[in-house]
Amino acid sequence: MYRCPGFRASGCSRCRGLCFDRRVVESAEAAFNEIVGELDYPMLIVTAAAGERIGGCLVGFATQMSISPPRFTVCISDKNHTCEVARDAEQLGVHFLAVEDDDLAQLFGGQTGHETDKFGLVEWRAGPQGTPLLDRCPNRFVGRIADRRRVGDHFSFLLEPVHASRGEDVRPFPFHRAKRIDPGHEA
Ligand SMILES: Cc1cc2nc3c(=O)[nH]c(=O)nc-3n(C[C@H](O)[C@H](O)[C@H](O)COP(=O)(O)O)c2cc1C
Repeated sequence: MYRCPGFRASGCSRCRGLCFDRRVVESAEAAFNEIVGELDYPMLIVTAAAGERIGGCLVGFATQMSISPPRFTVCISDKNHTCEVARDAEQLGVHFLAVEDDDLAQLFGGQTGHETDKFGLVEWRAGPQGTPLLDRCPNRFVGRIADRRRVGDHFSFLLEPVHASRGEDVRPFPFHRAKRIDPGHEA
């Protein structure tokens, strides 16, 4: 972050006081990154199957898009192994992590399917159309991919829920906790 060099506790000699009202940042992109970096939201694991291939990764870019009909969007980086599978899949699995699920977040966010067989390290079963369902995550749904498109360096997948399971109430695994994980792929 850039702090105005004229900043003094008593006044600012350079930016006509802007730096007293708000932090001055170098560009809109830097300011944007600071703002969104401070947001908090629940972390998910998104899984996909296409033919014999399966994939899954930790995802924070996700939100409900519609109530009736129900629609939910997840965004997956074009670098990720999961994206390669998801682009050929008809459905995706969306698993809502609990705050205790550090190990799952670390595995699916810190390792890539290009190098590691993540599904060899967790309990899972094949759901509809082979979509991997993680036993540890009872709060989950499978969504039919109603639309997929490139949105910058990610692909968005608009999902229409076709199967869902609801476990006990859990405290969600928050983004601020996941931030310390070193992603398996650069974004
Ligand atoms: C806090 C955090 C948030 C992340 N959010 C996303 C995301 O929204 N979409 C995405 O595609 N990857 C996201 N990632 C990165 C992937 O989970 C990570 O690169 C993973 O290792 C990719 O695995 P894959 O190559 O097997 O698909 C995130 C990682 C972390 C640590």
